[in-house]
Amino acid sequence: MATKRVSVVIASTRPHRIGHRVAQWVLEAVPPEFEVTVHDLRELALPFLDEPGQPADGDYVHDHTRRWSAAMQATDALVLVMPEYNRGYNAALKNAIDFLYAEWEGLPVGCVGYGWHGASFAKSALRQTLERVKMTVVDGPGLAFGTTLSQEGEVTADEAQEQSLADMFAELLARARR
Ligand SMILES: Cc1cc2nc3c(=O)[nH]c(=O)nc-3n(C[C@H](O)[C@H](O)[C@H](O)COP(=O)(O)O)c2cc1C
Repeated sequence: MATKRVSVVIASTRPHRIGHRVAQWVLEAVPPEFEVTVHDLRELALPFLDEPGQPADGDYVHDHTRRWSAAMQATDALVLVMPEYNRGYNAALKNAIDFLYAEWEGLPVGCVGYGWHGASFAKSALRQTLERVKMTVVDGPGLAFGTTLSQEGEVTADEAQEQSLADMFAELLARARR
């Protein structure tokens, strides 16, 4: 029975993205203790940060910010499914993180990256941001083109990647906020 809530964020917003296929692989591994909600940044369609105040003050004037804030306050753990772009993570994800501040503190987060070399550059850049906003970062798998992921988004994960995903969820469950 589900006792905790996890949010899975699809970070890519490209029309012909593969992010939703990677997210499907992630969703199939969610343990039954988690009630899961998917947040698709393409559907969320946040503008570039347009709050007049500092996010750290939490004094939001826009409905889109309040909705995003409420969604993140309501979750006990987070999974970011994100591509590597130019050795970083994608801009829509950075923008979505920058919109909020207090909501992130203490929130356990796992990152599932995908790209060449398992999105290692993007994952390391993302870790710095997540630690800056005081999230609790949990290791997650990185899918790599040519071995565990096709460029069309078919996941061909090996045992090690499946185990890494299961370990990530187990750790998120152990550290879940409420
Ligand atoms: C703007 C851009 C930059 C990219 N740069 C990298 C990169 O630095 N490293 C990498 O592994 N893949 C890179 N790629 C390839 C992406 O990992 C690949 O296109 C992937 O499908 C992107 O995820 P998405 O389809 O869900 O948007 C880049 C793709 C784009 C669109």
